[in-house]
Amino acid sequence: MTSFKPVLFSAIQPSGNITIGNYIGTMRHWSKMQNDYNCFYCIADLHALTTYNKHSCLKKSILDTISFYLACGVDPNKSIIFIQSHVYQHSQLNWILNCFSQFSELLRMNQFKMKRQIKNRYEKTNVGLFNYPILMASDILLYQTNFVPVGRDQKQHIELTRNIAYRFNSLYGDIFTLPEPLINECGSKIMSLLEPNKKMSKSDINKNNVIFLLDDISSVILKIKQSMTDSEQPCRIYYDIERKPGISNLLEILSAITNKNIDILLKELQGIMYREFKDIVADSLSKFLYKMQKSYINYRCDESYLKKVVYEGAIKARLKSEKTLQNVCSKLGLVSLFK
Ligand code: TRP
Repeated sequence: MTSFKPVLFSAIQPSGNITIGNYIGTMRHWSKMQNDYNCFYCIADLHALTTYNKHSCLKKSILDTISFYLACGVDPNKSIIFIQSHVYQHSQLNWILNCFSQFSELLRMNQFKMKRQIKNRYEKTNVGLFNYPILMASDILLYQTNFVPVGRDQKQHIELTRNIAYRFNSLYGDIFTLPEPLINECGSKIMSLLEPNKKMSKSDINKNNVIFLLDDISSVILKIKQSMTDSEQPCRIYYDIERKPGISNLLEILSAITNKNIDILLKELQGIMYREFKDIVADSLSKFLYKMQKSYINYRCDESYLKKVVYEGAIKARLKSEKTLQNVCSKLGLVSLFK
């Protein structure tokens, strides 16, 4: 007998440039979640087109991302890993939901407002960027999703998804499950190494602020050793984001990769100097990254395996999403080809 598990839907845009911040905030939880939820892990390649330019190596980034999913322990026998554009139901529902969404509610989306500002005035804002949250709603609603793990920046999109689903359900009955955001409860947000008051970001111009999962190990050690601490005398290691942002950030990193909570680490680290502490963080992180990179490269070199994973994922995702789409179409009075 299969036990009932809630559905969890997660997606990331394809990118080969994943940082330890992304890993600790998001990807680290993926393998554990597969045991508690029916997980759908999607590579949002259609979303990536909203910021596409002819230099985007989309194909490479997509294959890189599948390899990262697998290297992080997502198991295709337990979870469904698929590429958004392989499941045409997403675009189909996207159009339908466009017709149940309001222009004014999309104009209120913070991410749209921000991305629009970043574009310089020679670059026009494409309609896809405006429509982005509705495609995201379609992704989520097709699978009768209960939970969506997201960062705080995406919470507004989940609220919009709920509003659209609620509006549709009020007109046509219980068609869509209303999803809940699953905001990472420990809230660990990894900060820049040299400016620990701002979030670590892959687009930082100063690469010493950021550690990428694929950084070579010697540069990882150097970056940790150069990271900003503080000048408290005598130096003591404790967790205080306000007064000791650098030390607290290193503690967060160490805690995430060793799976030990910060209180336990603090007991172990009592009485040591900052330099020794950095050595410990650098050592743990480099061992961790070495293992992760080895596994990543094994998957990345086997393109036929990657294709098999997403082929099987697409078949399963289509089966599940088609049910919802058929239901929607029939409620709308669209004529079915088959019955
Ligand atoms: N917008 C998300 C991001 O950039 C990616 C995404 C696309 C997503 N569709 C989704 C996330 C559905 C959660 C649910 O991070």
